[in-house]
Amino acid sequence: MQGREPRPLDAHRTGNAINVLLMGSGGREHAIAMRLRESPRLGRLWLTDISNPGLQMLGTPAGVPVSIKEAYRLVQFCDHNDIGLVVIGPEDPLADGFADALESSNRLVFGPAKAAARLEADKAWSKQMMRAAAIPTAEGRVFSNPQSAIEYVRTREDGVVVKAAGLAKGKGVTVCDDPDEAIAAIQEAMVDRAFGEAGAKVVIEERLTGPELSVLALVDGRTIMMLPACQDHKRLRSGDTGPNTGGMGAFCPTPLASEEVLQRVEREVLVPIVDVLRRDEIVYRGVLYAGLMLTHAGPKVLEFNVRFGDPETQPLLSRLKGDLLELMLATASGRLHEGSIGWDDRSACCVVLASDGYPSKPRTGVPIQGVEIAEAMPEVVIHHAGTRRDSSGLLLTSGGRVLNVTGLGATLAAARTRAYEAVSKIHFEGMQYREDIGQAASAPARASSAARAR
Ligand code: AMP
Ligand code: GLY
Repeated sequence: MQGREPRPLDAHRTGNAINVLLMGSGGREHAIAMRLRESPRLGRLWLTDISNPGLQMLGTPAGVPVSIKEAYRLVQFCDHNDIGLVVIGPEDPLADGFADALESSNRLVFGPAKAAARLEADKAWSKQMMRAAAIPTAEGRVFSNPQSAIEYVRTREDGVVVKAAGLAKGKGVTVCDDPDEAIAAIQEAMVDRAFGEAGAKVVIEERLTGPELSVLALVDGRTIMMLPACQDHKRLRSGDTGPNTGGMGAFCPTPLASEEVLQRVEREVLVPIVDVLRRDEIVYRGVLYAGLMLTHAGPKVLEFNVRFGDPETQPLLSRLKGDLLELMLATASGRLHEGSIGWDDRSACCVVLASDGYPSKPRTGVPIQGVEIAEAMPEVVIHHAGTRRDSSGLLLTSGGRVLNVTGLGATLAAARTRAYEAVSKIHFEGMQYREDIGQAASAPARASSAARAR
């Protein structure tokens, strides 16, 4: 088996404290660390990366380089420090095979094996698996020769989507209105190699339309536990305009995710993909994220991710009632069927504050004001994503997406009001954010009457 078989470990059943190593350093990992810290089972929380000041306060630096070529160093660290669980946040270490390298007879890993991480790391293979499992998805073709790709898009009258097949940090997808745009996107990915080797192959898909939904589920090899569905806002600017980004905001739950939609997603997407992987002797263990478009013909998969979404995790985990560590242990050891999970009835709405110039050329090193004031507000959670402190302790921007501001409220409208109240307390030069996170969903009556009026 290339994946891992369920392997209940007695130590994880008996209530002993568990030392955890968390890999990753973004807003998602800050959110994960916050919830792990609440677990009575947590022994010591170790971090591979402490560049994020929010995260840094929650754990101890492991001080070991993260490189798959030197994975033995992390293995030694885990052995010496009695690490019972490794939590891998981002896609890159999963695609590199850290889950395979770090799991041992007395250590669990939350996150899928390299063979399963291909679902995200290789969009061509992922498409093939979706086809093999008859999962509804956009029609697509794979090209490794730019000339053939260009000839193909010239024959297409409708819009297409050009996707670098490899990992491109959320940047390798271009939604094209006409063949010229598609040709430019092919050129950028395959010839200019704007996304490096990730663009050596491209997937060219039919362009679908409809609202988007992120459905995340915990999968322990066999049992699938769906988490409340979220909506992400991928475009940079309000009104879904501007370039695609890693995500400018998200909210949870969403009225789009009716019981019927969720049942279809489970039956038509999640169950078949886990089954088809098992057929190939790949055991999926970790979070499985289906990025979906709700088309007239029903939900269709745009992509699979093999980790928690960012920023979806920030509002999602802000609503978790229960012990994240226990859930992760159950997922990693094939015991999800024994557990249950509770969610806060309130809605959560997360606004991403981004740097000037994001996503192409974020300006960094800019002082940030007001985080402490926003953080002190009730029903507000702040996660650091791209920040750092200078030698005098001043908080500065250090990346494209800087802070994630989540508001909680009895309704989505109340949650978003809360989030924007907190946003108004924070300032840095060139700060960009969308003003419409959760807006359409929190005012469906107004949105539809406006649509009718147009
Ligand atoms: P992906 O990384 O594959 O999820 O793509 C990023 C974004 O591009 C998605 O969130 C959609 O907004 C858009 N997108 C991807 N595939 C398609 C498609 N086949 N049709 C329309 N939009 C798409
Ligand atoms: N928010 C989109 C992603 O995590 O890929």
